[in-house]
Amino acid sequence: MKKDLISITDYTKDEYLRIMELAAGFEKNPNRDILQGKVVASLFFEPSTRTRLSFETAISRLGGRIIGFADAGSSSVTKGETLHDTIKMVSNYADLIVMRHPLEGSARYAAEVSEVPVINAGDGANQHPTQTLLDLYSILKTQGTLDNLNIFMVGDLKYGRTVHSLLMAMSEFENPIFNFIAPEELMIPEEYKMHLREKGIRFYEHREFTDIINDADIIYMTRVQKERFSDPIEYEKVKNVYILRNKMLEKTKANMRVLHPLPRVNEIHPDVDANQKAYYFDQALNGVFTREAIIAHTMKLI
Ligand code: CP
Repeated sequence: MKKDLISITDYTKDEYLRIMELAAGFEKNPNRDILQGKVVASLFFEPSTRTRLSFETAISRLGGRIIGFADAGSSSVTKGETLHDTIKMVSNYADLIVMRHPLEGSARYAAEVSEVPVINAGDGANQHPTQTLLDLYSILKTQGTLDNLNIFMVGDLKYGRTVHSLLMAMSEFENPIFNFIAPEELMIPEEYKMHLREKGIRFYEHREFTDIINDADIIYMTRVQKERFSDPIEYEKVKNVYILRNKMLEKTKANMRVLHPLPRVNEIHPDVDANQKAYYFDQALNGVFTREAIIAHTMKLI
């Protein structure tokens, strides 16, 4: 049976840990020819820098070949071809499909149509499971554990697919505490709060971005996602609602780390970048090792 990765819940906790172990191995030795003779399709119907390039770097480091597009405008979608037909065709050409698409549920649909495994590289505001696995790897590397952590999620918690996937994954570990800082319009959706309640996990909601962050082990900043707003006036109201500045980190824990899936706009001031607590660029590098691990696991290569 083929192994897709569409939602973070497609993997068990043991699989998260397996990916962490494999990622650590790829970090020590990133160049291995285990994908030799294989073709991977990289289909990006929505813009991306990190996810696409880190996947393509991972494929290259594993000795595989890449086909695909970075812009749906250069594909036959512009002639009216359906997602069904595009995936059906590409799954005849490639051994694995990595796909980003603006529509929620599109990745699950692609997996149903495809003969070869599909990895979801982000579907609308729904899920971004490979980002979550690299986030878990980043948290494990910096905290030494995935248990008993106080995680602050800040910004666009409504449309932020990385937040949704990370919340689901972290809730599999021991005794997490979540603190959600968001304006009324961008609060974490009810379904995720229900999930936490059902699992008996503590969470707190805040509007103010204040010294409450001093208790954090991880501050997970997010961008307000302009592309998900149908009303530009609504976006203007909230776009600069929280900005993390270096001074705000003075009394935070010594081992606290600031994560951000990137790209950032204004939500982390550049004066944070030189602080040793800023981890977001290292986090993006971890994406290469984690995606090598995901590919190896998906294709049962090691
Ligand atoms: N983190 C992330 O998904 O970045 P890109 O949109 O650049 O791929």
